[in-house]
Amino acid sequence: MEDRFGHHINYLRVSITDRCNERCQYCMPVETQEWLPREEVLSYEEILRTIRVGAGMGISKLRITGGEPLTRRNVLWFFEQLNRIERINDVGISTNGTLLGQMTPEGITTAQALKNAGVRTVNVSLDTLDRKTYAETTGRDIFPRAIEGIDAAREAGFEKIKINTVLMRHRNEHELWDLIEFARKRDLLLRFIELMPVSTTHVLTEENFLPAGEAKKLIEFRLGELAPRPDFRTNGPSSYYELPETGQLIGFIGAMTNLHFCETCNKLRLTSEGKLRPCLGSHLEFDMREVLRNLEMDDNDVAKFFLEVVERKPEQHEFRESYKPGRKMIAIGG
Ligand code: 5AD
Ligand code: SF4
Repeated sequence: MEDRFGHHINYLRVSITDRCNERCQYCMPVETQEWLPREEVLSYEEILRTIRVGAGMGISKLRITGGEPLTRRNVLWFFEQLNRIERINDVGISTNGTLLGQMTPEGITTAQALKNAGVRTVNVSLDTLDRKTYAETTGRDIFPRAIEGIDAAREAGFEKIKINTVLMRHRNEHELWDLIEFARKRDLLLRFIELMPVSTTHVLTEENFLPAGEAKKLIEFRLGELAPRPDFRTNGPSSYYELPETGQLIGFIGAMTNLHFCETCNKLRLTSEGKLRPCLGSHLEFDMREVLRNLEMDDNDVAKFFLEVVERKPEQHEFRESYKPGRKMIAIGG
């Protein structure tokens, strides 16, 4: 599928739940804890059908997100189904990591079960290495479990484990080096993400915003000049740089300050309640659930719906203009 601006769409990011076991300040306002009623969330069957049709239209990469995807019941069964779908050749998960170390009834870690199900890449959110800051940021004092989860993922032998760190002034700007060292020692690919106005919480302010360029300078000040590595790319919009001496690669996701951010966008998003969104930073969303639950509509209609949504994909996100967050990040799926 290709949109009006030449974006090739081959990547679907699927939120399978709006629920989470953490309460990150930039994602989920503490006061709103009304989860979607069960019937409003797509069933696994409905999600799998959507993906099957999408795969027939050129979707080959999937990333499963939430909320926290590992909080959904029978989630391992769901992952096992994904790799059976023809033309899907790259399945990843975005998680806060805290449940990766949990044992399954088979006596293996959840991370290992995901690996066995064919998951290739794991992205773990980790903003800090300080237990207190972690508790403050996520609303849960479970930093050791996040680390345990990362270790479980390493033991499971994934092709790639990425760490996503949301940049926040005063929160982690003094820890960037430690995070780099943490990632280097464990052979993890670290990416720094600019805070985006995707939610409605009090922490999404200019004051807390730490631009990627500034983070880069802070790192260079201590560790030496970063060499751009435009040749190194992952599926997403991250720009990678190489550190001197160690050669370690680190990424920056400058959604707010990188003016070319959207040029290589290859993504659509499916929310847990079945809205197909052509762009994270735009209010546009289209109700796929209505199509899926309409008994008079078949897979051809689902396919047509995909094309209509791609047709409406904007050239770029609206974060820099007038975008006022209308909903929680957790409802969109990161
Ligand atoms: N800005 C930037 N990143 C965010 N995430 C959640 N909320 C925000 C925000 N407001 C990140 C999480 C996770 C990914 C799914 O999205 O930290 O890494
Ligand atoms: Fe949960 Fe991730 Fe949102 Fe934090 S950022 S509340 S871990 S979904």
